[in-house]
Amino acid sequence: MKVLVTGFNGQLGYDVVKELTSRSIECIGVDLQDFDITDRKQTVDFVKNYNPDVIVHCAAYTAVDKAEDDADTCRKVNVDGSENLALAAKEIGAKMLYVSTDYVYGGAGDTPFEVTDPTDPKSVYGKTKLEGEEAVKKHLDNYFIVRTSWVFGINGNNFVKTMLRLGAERDELSVVCDQIGSPTYTPDLARLICDIVMTEKYGTYHGTNENYCSWAEFAEAIMTLGNRKAKIKPIPSSEYPAKAQRPLNSRLSKDCLDRAGIDRLPTWQDALERYIKELGL
Ligand SMILES: NC(=O)c1ccc[n+]([C@@H]2O[C@H](COP(=O)([O-])OP(=O)(O)OC[C@H]3O[C@@H](n4cnc5c(N)ncnc54)[C@H](OP(=O)(O)O)[C@@H]3O)[C@@H](O)[C@H]2O)c1
Repeated sequence: MKVLVTGFNGQLGYDVVKELTSRSIECIGVDLQDFDITDRKQTVDFVKNYNPDVIVHCAAYTAVDKAEDDADTCRKVNVDGSENLALAAKEIGAKMLYVSTDYVYGGAGDTPFEVTDPTDPKSVYGKTKLEGEEAVKKHLDNYFIVRTSWVFGINGNNFVKTMLRLGAERDELSVVCDQIGSPTYTPDLARLICDIVMTEKYGTYHGTNENYCSWAEFAEAIMTLGNRKAKIKPIPSSEYPAKAQRPLNSRLSKDCLDRAGIDRLPTWQDALERYIKELGL
């Protein structure tokens, strides 16, 4: 098996390549320096030349607030880029896994979303990620979609790194307490992605670490495990205005994994402990 992974310079793509390599699976990690996914010719040429059996598509426009003012670029990357990769996969008969997001849901209520629940994205980023899903579905039968949330990994910036930095600089940090979801550690998600692409169990999945928390609860755990002294002050989202609307409910049900016989991921608490060690703290 040969796998092409996009978004190699980002958090998830980096760890997917690491996981494939540890399984002795031939793979290549690509990013903008190799080709721009928004350029159809470049994309199709590169993919045809490498001729993978599987494309794991982690590249995306992920600047959620910036996207509100830059919808065209965001749509080009998340929709056109994903469609270009799907067309390339179709030409060579490859499977494709598209990484998607909790932002495709509307975020109402307090029960976990099932993969079959209606989508209702509230932000440009969420809308374009959903349109990216649709582009993949339009062209391919052999696709996997994995919706994840609150990603943290060694290669790139994320909430944990920001909290560790601010927690060392300040006595108190205000963090929102009314958005609930699951932090997700990229080595764990990479393991899940590699397990899924080995199968022919095509369709849509949720892939996150187990258990739910608020950002404030997550920040508390980061302070404790990272040995930071800052006190966490829980605040409602209304006191932390942002350009893009975030879902209050980002709970994603993992019943879809149980039904497919795919192992769930460890808890986010367990993942955070391993991440703090990976950071050398
Ligand atoms: N981060 C989260 O909390 C989160 C939550 C839910 C879902 N997701 C999804 O999970 C996936 C991985 O996220 P991540 O955090 O690993 O993202 P990331 O760290 O932002 O990495 C994305 C990578 O894609 C590259 N890229 C952007 N435009 C490109 C283009 N036109 N051609 C080729 N490559 C391009 C970026 O390069 P540049 O940096 O040079 O632009 C970057 O290296 C994405 O699909 C994202 O939507 C993420």
